[in-house]
Amino acid sequence: MDQKIKIFDTTLRDGEQVPGCQLHGKEKLVIAKALDNLGVDIIEGGFPVSSPADFEAVKAIAQNMQNASVCGLTRAVQKDIDVAVEAIKPAKKPRIHTGLGTSDLHVFTKLRTTKEEVIERGVAAVKYAKKFVEDVEFYAEDAGRTDNEYLARVVEAMIKAGATVINIPDTTGYCLPAEFGAKIKYLKENVKGIHKVDIAAHCHNDLGLATANAIAAVQNGATQVECTINGIGERAGNTSLEEVVMIINKRTDLPYYTDINTRLLTAMSQMVAERMNMPVQANKAIVGSNAFAHSSGIHQDGVIKHRQNYEIIDPAEVGADGSQIVLTARSGHAALKYRLEKLGVSLNKADLDKVYNDFLEVADRTGLVEDKDLKELVAGYAMIDLD
Ligand code: KIV
Ligand code: ZN
Repeated sequence: MDQKIKIFDTTLRDGEQVPGCQLHGKEKLVIAKALDNLGVDIIEGGFPVSSPADFEAVKAIAQNMQNASVCGLTRAVQKDIDVAVEAIKPAKKPRIHTGLGTSDLHVFTKLRTTKEEVIERGVAAVKYAKKFVEDVEFYAEDAGRTDNEYLARVVEAMIKAGATVINIPDTTGYCLPAEFGAKIKYLKENVKGIHKVDIAAHCHNDLGLATANAIAAVQNGATQVECTINGIGERAGNTSLEEVVMIINKRTDLPYYTDINTRLLTAMSQMVAERMNMPVQANKAIVGSNAFAHSSGIHQDGVIKHRQNYEIIDPAEVGADGSQIVLTARSGHAALKYRLEKLGVSLNKADLDKVYNDFLEVADRTGLVEDKDLKELVAGYAMIDLD
C-alpha cells in the first residue's frame, strides 16, 4: 500500500515572514480556510508570542478549521509555549511546534551554550508542551548542517520526551538531495523509537533545491513535508507545496500519495499571490502563467498534434485554464492555423502562407500577436467553411 505523505503548510508562518507579505488576521483566516479546503493536513497559523495580532489570527484559525490540525510555532521557552497553547486551544486538532538550533553554529554562536544544554532545553520544552497537548512537533533548527551523530542523539531524546513529530529543517537550504536523503536514512536506522513518529522535511530554497531535498527526504522515510504555496518564505523561500504535491501525483512509480485536491492549486496560488502581495514568476512550475504556454514553432506543432509531446500535466488537473498556443515571431504555420481556427477562420494553404508572412512582420514589431491582430490580418481573405 502507498504511504500517505502529510502536507504541513507554513504559508501563514514561514511564508508570512517575507518582508511585505504580512497579513491582517482576517486575511490569514481566509487563506487558512482555503488551505483546509485544499486538503492540507496541518496548518501552521503563525508564531503566537510574536504579536497580539498573530495570537488572535492563530486563535481564529484554530476556531474555524474543519479538518486540518492547527499548529503554533514556539521557541523552546515556557512563555512561548503558554501563549501558543492558548491560541491553538479551540482547535479540533491542536499542535505545538517547538525547538531550537542544533548545528555547531547555532549552538555556539547563536544560543551560546553547549550541546548537552541544547538537548536539556529541548527535552524540557517538549515535556512542558505535552502537559497541554498530545501532538508536539520538535524542530532541530539547522539540522541540515548538524552532524548526524549528534542529531540522532537529539532526536532520540525528543522522542523519549514525548514528541510525536520530528522536524528536520534544512534551515539555510545548504544540503544536496543525496545528502539530505542520507540524513533521514541515518536517523531512521540509528534512532530508537523513530518508527513511532512522523519525520518532517522542512527545506529552504537558497540553492534552488528545496523541492528536490524534500522529495529525497520522502524517499528515505520522511512522512511529512513542510511547504508553502508558491514556495514563498524567508530569503529564497521554502519548498513549494504545489511542486511536491504534483511530483507525488504525477510520478505514479513513487509509492506515495497526498490528500490534496490538485484541481484547487491554481486558485490557491492566485489567492496567496494577491493577498500576500507576492506575484508568481511566469515560469514557476505548476502555477506560473507560462506553465502551460507554448510559443516556439517546434513545440506548438508537437502540442497541437498530441498535447503530451510537451506537457506532462493536463492543465485541468491543477485547475488551470488550459494549454495556450502563444503567437510570437518564433511561432510556426501550425500555431497560426490553430489560432485562426479557434476564431472560426480557415484559409487555403496559399492564403495561409501569405498571412503567415504578414503575421511575422506584426510579431517582430509587437512581440505578441493577439486575436484582434489576427482578425485584421485575415480581413479580406476568402474563408473556407469550417463545418
Ligand atoms: O527553517 C527553519 O528551521 C524553521 C524552523 C523554525 C522550523 O522555520
Ligand atoms: Zn523555515
